[in-house]
Amino acid sequence: MPAVSQFAADRVAVQRALDTFCARWLNHLSPRTAEAIRYALLGEGKRLRAILLLEASRACGGPADAFELAAAVEVVHAYSLVHDDLPCMDDDDVRRGRPTVHRAYGVEVATAAGLAMVPLAAQSAYHAARALGLSAPESGEVVRTLMQASGGGGMIGGQLLDLEAEGVHLTLDAMERVHRLKTGALIAASVMVGAQAARASEVRRRALAHYGAAIGLAFQIADDVLDVTATTDELGKTAGRDLALAKSTYPALLGVEGAIERATALVEQACGVLAAEGLLTPTLEQLARYIVERRN
Ligand code: IPE
Ligand code: IPE
Ligand code: MG
Ligand code: MG
Ligand code: MG
Repeated sequence: MPAVSQFAADRVAVQRALDTFCARWLNHLSPRTAEAIRYALLGEGKRLRAILLLEASRACGGPADAFELAAAVEVVHAYSLVHDDLPCMDDDDVRRGRPTVHRAYGVEVATAAGLAMVPLAAQSAYHAARALGLSAPESGEVVRTLMQASGGGGMIGGQLLDLEAEGVHLTLDAMERVHRLKTGALIAASVMVGAQAARASEVRRRALAHYGAAIGLAFQIADDVLDVTATTDELGKTAGRDLALAKSTYPALLGVEGAIERATALVEQACGVLAAEGLLTPTLEQLARYIVERRN
């Protein structure tokens, strides 16, 4: 995260909201599944999606403290990581600097934990939206945005395409589609939910949708670059995993320099669209730039 005290404070507040999520929503699950979910949620994540939601809401004059809603987005994200790491997907041993959930709790518990997280995220998002004063239809729209971005036409669809693309040469267009779905969709949804929390105008929503989609794609391009250029220690996850799995990545197609150029151009585009609507706050600009400059 950029060295801005607001982001540090937000990370702490989101962490606290995730604690509250666990206390409130995990009671019906078996103790072991609940423990695995706590483990998945309370690891050292950057909380970027949550912070994007908060900053989008603030930029539109909405609530500054939508922490419960921001936590719900992080629940969907954490679930995606639990399943992404499973042996049948990327088969990874390390995440957020410690053993992956299936390494710590076994494949069955990790699979069940991931499955349980999605409906709980939807329920808690609805609860959080209502608590912010959104109407029932407005809160339903928030949940629809989050679930559409997570489903077959979003993250899951992209994850399936990503698996099919192992060992296959994709065109740049085809790869862009995979990246936009598997990672871009949830990042764009995080920004959009912030706009919905603020009851932003259609014009502002359109600009934020464009910003979210562009930085979402840039985020996965940067993730692919870091897989090649950063160490396992820096990343808190296994470096070089994409090459080992013969994944279709931007550096494989464009080279590291070409991939960084593409990601940087997307960030400029994202900032330009917001600036044109008078919505480019310093924090939304810092977050966009951080996406390509980060080291983990
Ligand atoms: C990793 O996301 C998975 C991708 C979509 C590339 P993050 O890099 O945001 O992971 P955490 O939440 O900080 O661990
Ligand atoms: C993951 O992409 C996208 C998700 C939806 C989780 P990656 O497989 O590249 O993510 P990492 O590198 O394992 O975090
Ligand atoms: Mg993957
Ligand atoms: Mg992976
Ligand atoms: Mg990766």
